[in-house]
Amino acid sequence: MVPVRLTGPRLAIREYHHTAGDVDALYGLFGDPEVTRYLPFEPRDRETCADQIELYLEEAMAPERDTYRLAVTRREDAEDPADATPIAHASLTLGNHRSAHLGYVLGRDVWGRGYAGEIAGLLCELSFEALGVHRLAARVDVDNAASAKVLLRLGFQLEGRVRHDLCKGGVWSDSYLYSLLADEWTGATG
Ligand SMILES: CC(C)(COP(=O)(O)OP(=O)(O)OC[C@H]1O[C@@H](n2cnc3c(N)ncnc32)[C@H](O)[C@@H]1OP(=O)(O)O)[C@@H](O)C(=O)NCCC(=O)NCCS
Repeated sequence: MVPVRLTGPRLAIREYHHTAGDVDALYGLFGDPEVTRYLPFEPRDRETCADQIELYLEEAMAPERDTYRLAVTRREDAEDPADATPIAHASLTLGNHRSAHLGYVLGRDVWGRGYAGEIAGLLCELSFEALGVHRLAARVDVDNAASAKVLLRLGFQLEGRVRHDLCKGGVWSDSYLYSLLADEWTGATG
């Protein structure tokens, strides 16, 4: 496996480490009901987050890797971004016909700084420039206006509304589907 290492102006993206620090960081994200509000799962406990990191590392080792679940760190937090504590989570899932889906989840304490745009921009770079993706898509809860803004700013186009896309706690919610094609990618990192 070639470990992913991406660097933007303020952020870096790396593989997860199976360390207490990375587990705590992931739990800080996935254990927070405000953060998971528009995500397709309920808040997770710390043990589940530790298991998730095991799974992410197994996925990373797959001979034909099609799932990238990655830790986002701040460059200012350590000389080597590999040593910094994650502040966000990024994901990229490859599908058929050179398509992929991206996702990003930031801790509440770092919302509102434009970090999501930088993360999504780095995932575009990984997709279009390194992995040969042709179509990159994202699904966003119809009420998640902040995430929709992030995608539109990067050039993603709205394709339509996916009705009853998720069911949480017995309540259905709709999503908007966005996409960006390789020849629409301008190279901006948010
Ligand atoms: C949604 C999320 C990714 C946004 O990330 P972020 O780095 O805070 O986003 P930004 O700072 O770039 O803000 C995006 C824009 O949305 C705006 N915004 C923030 N909250 C908003 C809200 N509730 N309604 C409307 N717009 C909002 C911001 O003002 C900003 O617009 P501007 O640049 O024109 O001022 C982040 O809040 C998050 O991780 N939430 C939890 C997980 C999640 O929902 N992930 C996305 C799943 S699709």
